[in-house]
Amino acid sequence: MKRIIAVLNQKGGVGKTTTAVNLAAYLAKAGHSVLVVDSDPQANATSGLGFDKSSLNLTLYDVLFSKAPKHKVIQKHKIDGLELLPANRHLAGAEVELVDHPRREFLLKELLSDLNYDFIIIDSPPSLGLLTVNSLAAATDVIIPVQAEYYALEGLGQLLSVYQQVRQAINPDLNLLGVITTLYDSRNSLSEQVRLELAKHFGDKLFTTVVPRSVRLAEAPSFGKTIDEHDPLSKGAEAYKSLANELQERLL
Ligand SMILES: Nc1ncnc2c1ncn2[C@@H]1O[C@H](COP(=O)(O)OP(=O)(O)OP(=O)(O)O)[C@@H](O)[C@H]1O
Ligand SMILES: [Mg+2]
Repeated sequence: MKRIIAVLNQKGGVGKTTTAVNLAAYLAKAGHSVLVVDSDPQANATSGLGFDKSSLNLTLYDVLFSKAPKHKVIQKHKIDGLELLPANRHLAGAEVELVDHPRREFLLKELLSDLNYDFIIIDSPPSLGLLTVNSLAAATDVIIPVQAEYYALEGLGQLLSVYQQVRQAINPDLNLLGVITTLYDSRNSLSEQVRLELAKHFGDKLFTTVVPRSVRLAEAPSFGKTIDEHDPLSKGAEAYKSLANELQERLL
């Protein structure tokens, strides 16, 4: 059951990193070996998992462009079974350096091809540039977080069209594993309207799990903690545990 899951949406701040990090944590806690690949120059997954991005000597950038050995770059997390291929701001240069590379869409796929994990979760930047195309080329599956707010559906058409283009041109087996509703506010009727709209659009691709807007989820990364480490009994923790379960059921 080896899966490489790209978490993506070119819209910023929709919960990609929060989803990638906490889903990875709960898959690891369920007994799987899991690697988080931070493919965003903002390096939020790296800091959110408790690593100091400014003190890292080697990151994904060095594996992609200077042949740094993966085992020297991959970091072990406190949670058993969870590891991280970290990023820092150097990765911003990758978009430019990739342009002239002969295999520019496939560097991440090649890098991940000989790694042995049950799950590799790729956190993608908020753009549809070459780093995101590399995520889509390397992935077996895609998860799209969508925030339950106004304008949420805007841009989804463009995202799905890039997904289809990648399927046609370079990765025909790529699977849309699911769409997850994030930042859901039960006191705001708009949240429910957006969720219903997503259900209409995506049918059973929409995960039944809904991630609530939650202060505990928002503050966890400031402590470099996953929600399970920060507040395992919170609603946000419950949601991501449930998402991890739903995902495992879909992959059975
Ligand atoms: N369910 C939630 N409830 C409250 N705050 C949340 C929730 N999910 C994410 N956040 C917060 O919202 C902000 C954006 O979330 P996150 O970084 O996960 O989004 P992103 O899509 O990865 O953003 P970017 O596009 O910049 O990479 C962060 O400050 C995060 O802590
Ligand atoms: Mg992010």
